[in-house]
Amino acid sequence: MSSVDNSSKPISEPADRKVSDRMRQLAKLLREQAHAYYVLDEPIAEDSAYDSLRSELVALEEAHPKLAEQDSPTKSVGGQVLDKFISVAHDVPMLSLSNVFNAADLADFDRRARARLNTEDSIEYELEYKLDGLAVSLRYEHGKLTQAVTRGDGATGELITSNIKTIRNLPKQIATEAPLLEVRGEVVMPKAGFEKLNREAELEGTKTFANPRNAAAGSLRQLDPGIAASRPLAFYGYSVIQGLPEQLTTQSAALNWLRDLGFSVPDFEVCKSVNPILERYEQIAAERSNLPFEIDGMVIKVNSLTKQEELGFLSREPRWATAFKFPAEQATTRLIGAEWQVGRTGQLTPVGKLEPVLVGGVTVQNVTLHNPGEIERLGVMVGDTVVVERAGDVIPKVVGVLKDLRPADATAIELPKQCPVCASQVVMGEDEALARCSGALICPAQQTAALIHFVSRRAMDIEGLGDRWIESFHAHGLLSSVADIYRLKNHKEQLIGFEKLADKSVENLLGAIEQSKKTALPRLIFGLGIRGVGERTAQLLATEFGELTNLMQASAESLEAIHDIGSITAEFIVEFFASPRNQQVIADLIDLGVHWPKPLAKTDLPLSGQSWVITGSLDAFSRDVAGEKLMALGAKVAGSVSKNTHRLVAGEKAGSKLKKAESLGVTVLSEAEFLAFLAEFDQS
Ligand code: IVH
Repeated sequence: MSSVDNSSKPISEPADRKVSDRMRQLAKLLREQAHAYYVLDEPIAEDSAYDSLRSELVALEEAHPKLAEQDSPTKSVGGQVLDKFISVAHDVPMLSLSNVFNAADLADFDRRARARLNTEDSIEYELEYKLDGLAVSLRYEHGKLTQAVTRGDGATGELITSNIKTIRNLPKQIATEAPLLEVRGEVVMPKAGFEKLNREAELEGTKTFANPRNAAAGSLRQLDPGIAASRPLAFYGYSVIQGLPEQLTTQSAALNWLRDLGFSVPDFEVCKSVNPILERYEQIAAERSNLPFEIDGMVIKVNSLTKQEELGFLSREPRWATAFKFPAEQATTRLIGAEWQVGRTGQLTPVGKLEPVLVGGVTVQNVTLHNPGEIERLGVMVGDTVVVERAGDVIPKVVGVLKDLRPADATAIELPKQCPVCASQVVMGEDEALARCSGALICPAQQTAALIHFVSRRAMDIEGLGDRWIESFHAHGLLSSVADIYRLKNHKEQLIGFEKLADKSVENLLGAIEQSKKTALPRLIFGLGIRGVGERTAQLLATEFGELTNLMQASAESLEAIHDIGSITAEFIVEFFASPRNQQVIADLIDLGVHWPKPLAKTDLPLSGQSWVITGSLDAFSRDVAGEKLMALGAKVAGSVSKNTHRLVAGEKAGSKLKKAESLGVTVLSEAEFLAFLAEFDQS
């Protein structure tokens, strides 16, 4: 065996190897995703996830051109021709569009166009919907539809004339003199039709489609035109490639002409300059969910066809048009770390640190991973490429992990044994999904969270004492328990010394603190932050026990005897008041002047001993608020109607409870009657 001498070969740097590994993995995954999407019509990733992986590969290829594969998936325009259909070469290639994502990109696009046209004048633009379907090119010979071809790879597409002819809003015969007309546009499946199709597929147990575009693509790729005919497809024309009458010189005129010939066209409008585009884009983005079909952005086109010709193309994209896409709601990025945050009740929440990524129009760097159970469900590790979703105003979350892209040095996200803030032991909840710091109020993280809760609007309602001040005062040793809030006035000079806290603001803050001393017992109980005690339970406890001292001495049994309080909450309450530290804080609060009106003795309240039920929806306030008002009058509010029910309040759309009350002969109050009743007690 001859020995091989490797010593003269250049040894690649480990960093380089890491990059090339990543590029290879990305290319492989993109190919798989493209195959699933274009060929099988069964996407395995959201478009925006595909797009962000693709942009990552493009960036790596730009930074390391030597490592780029010759036939990288970044180099193809789109699909592949299926062999079951006849391939047809396009007379004029079907290209794609560049993208702009914000006002600055848009201004750049306009600036480049003006520079190229060598003009200082504003350019007139035409704006149209970017329909989310699939592009087809149609040929009409002497007015008759003779050929329909998909985009395919841009140069060659699939012949799908028979399927296209089944589309109802598409004219098969048109009144034109032109021997040849070539029209391009988008085939879409309207949302309503898509939903109906999927409902039917579900009932029949056949394949459902991921989105309307895939449903449209799948429908056109059927060899049996009967299937396409049964699908709710529509065609919208957006450009005339050959055969436009010469006197028509703008894109908007071309669309009007198409419309006159009987084609549907996407909504469009003309803007005299680039300026109004942004505002229109935002309006349309806000309204898009009301449209009958899906659009994924706006296409901005230079309106003058002469100018379009002058501007020409840059590789595969026109210089005279661009796509202003709506922000993607999913994107991929790397999870670069994980931290554990400690909340008010000591719950440990894992927070993922991300390589910053733009999703839903916002840069996201942190993402909640909820709890240890969720980490296990996702199987996520630090180093993983993750799919992050941010739809509407929902907090961003990780919805998937691309395990094929996991690097060799990925590390598991481990639950710490000790609290990262106070080093107390971490304990797992019974279901093994939630973890908690056992340090309770010695834990600084739990202390600040408890302070933030205490001052919140529905608790002691101290305006002006925001999270940042609490954290800062806490860090400076001014606040450790909630009672310290009422001692802040002794540190006035020090408060004024705080950055950005002017004399006046300190006055206001101390004023708000002073005011909050006059409170109501339910607010104070809620503000103490006892586990399991929300606003409603706090209200219940206040009415049941009347005096705070009674509540503090209550046994688990007496608490459990209250309807709506379970054994776990009862334990939490007993545990809370058994703590000497908590007893001290409560005593301090009272010493410092926190007070509340003495409640009427329970038996003296007007509705004592009565059980009420509320059903349906009320106009004046929520059912919860209505319940609080009744409880303040001494009534019990129950969840179901029985023969012991004293009154049923029935709002709009009351259902089974109303029927039951009627059958049992329980007195029913309408909302108006209920309000009149409350007014008698000054409770409305
Ligand atoms: S014009 C030279 N107008 O977007 C390119 N395209 O990435 C001309 N699309 O494949 C395209 N709505 O399928 C144009 N109003 C519209 C469009 C539109 C959707 C699609 C089209 C194309 C892709 C470009």
